[in-house]
Amino acid sequence: MKFFATIPFVLGAALQAVAQVSDAAKAAELVADLKKAPTQVARLNILKNNRDWLFDYNAGVGTVRSAGGNSTLANVANFPALFANGMAMAIGHMAPCGMNSPHTHPRATELLYVVNGEIEAGFIEENGARFVSNTVTQGQGTIFPKGSIHYQVNTGCEPVTFVAALNDEDPGASLIAQRFFGLPPDVVAATLGDVGVKEVVNLATGIPDNFVIGVDRCLQKCNLKRGQQSKNQQQPRVDGNAFPN
Ligand SMILES: *[C@@H]1O[C@H](CO)[C@@H](O)[C@H](O)[C@H]1NC(C)=O
Repeated sequence: MKFFATIPFVLGAALQAVAQVSDAAKAAELVADLKKAPTQVARLNILKNNRDWLFDYNAGVGTVRSAGGNSTLANVANFPALFANGMAMAIGHMAPCGMNSPHTHPRATELLYVVNGEIEAGFIEENGARFVSNTVTQGQGTIFPKGSIHYQVNTGCEPVTFVAALNDEDPGASLIAQRFFGLPPDVVAATLGDVGVKEVVNLATGIPDNFVIGVDRCLQKCNLKRGQQSKNQQQPRVDGNAFPN
């Protein structure tokens, strides 16, 4: 019985996945047409429904969910009206003690606004740059310069919502841990001062999905346990970065 009871859910999830793929294909077609249009007026004629200018942050399009919360990014791939307008925007919902783990946006500076609660936000720029961090509370904002490695921790015991504007319609995101540990294990081991390839493999296979569950001092304060976290964002292994047998 249990098996049959799950069928509608599995089917529902599959249909949703199919719908998202076809939406993505439609959006890609629109962007291809927008690229050929010489002016913004011509682009308006391609995006001919008023609905083409509306993005629903509650619909689950552009959403990534994990143990530490969820984030939804409107970018040119899921909201073609952004094309040639030079910006994107994310809404993040962080669980208590949730953390947006260190990452960069290769093509955009980020201006982040805290809707409620309190976060700790830090960034580090290129070689030689000093570390910058702030406690950012409700109604305050902070900036992460383009290319900087940055993070936010919800240091409170309540969920936090933030709004992040990015000055490129395709800002991109590189999660530092996933990217670095996606390099050849012996290269990573040597970079870390010869820690050993086995240790690198252990570290690489432990990296949780973003948003992660954050720092111990918050978990202790809020009396929370780290718990299980999904691990689907790790770098796939191919010949060049394979784990040793
Ligand atoms: C993200 O999480 C918040 C808080 O739990 C929830 O209200 C919202 O619906 C979620 N967003 C999406 C798109 O799933």
